[in-house]
Amino acid sequence: APTRYEAERAPATCDGTVDTDHAGYSGTGFCNGRNAVGAALQFTVDAPQAGTATLTVRYANGTTTPRPAGVTVNGASAGSASFAGTGTWMTWAMATLTVPLNAGSNTVRFSPTTAGGLANIDALDVEAGGTTTPPPV
Ligand code: GCU
Ligand code: CA
Repeated sequence: APTRYEAERAPATCDGTVDTDHAGYSGTGFCNGRNAVGAALQFTVDAPQAGTATLTVRYANGTTTPRPAGVTVNGASAGSASFAGTGTWMTWAMATLTVPLNAGSNTVRFSPTTAGGLANIDALDVEAGGTTTPPPV
């Protein structure tokens, strides 16, 4: 099962406010980033071993305009996310991406590339890849 990291909870950092005015979030709120290029949300996530991980971002975008973001892992570019409109600010959706993680602690940063800033972001689920223990024969 993936591990969930809440956007409103340290060690995550939200360049904006932690809000609770749009229902349906997990934990105690969500990150409402400032509406500006570069107003980033950063998570710190653990991986048991180095390898590819699947990241799932839970977000809402009540506009009809995407809120794209660059993604960096440990400071290195690791792709992008588009955060398309979800219809309302209470309609939460999942965006999935695949990134490389180091063993141990990693920073995963979402930095918006347009003036709208980020979508509202609730949480990040991390499914580390790597080996699974085979069942006994
Ligand atoms: C509204 C909404 C916020 C959202 C903001 C935005 O103010 O209530 O939750 O973050 O729009 O456009 O980013
Ligand atoms: Ca916002």
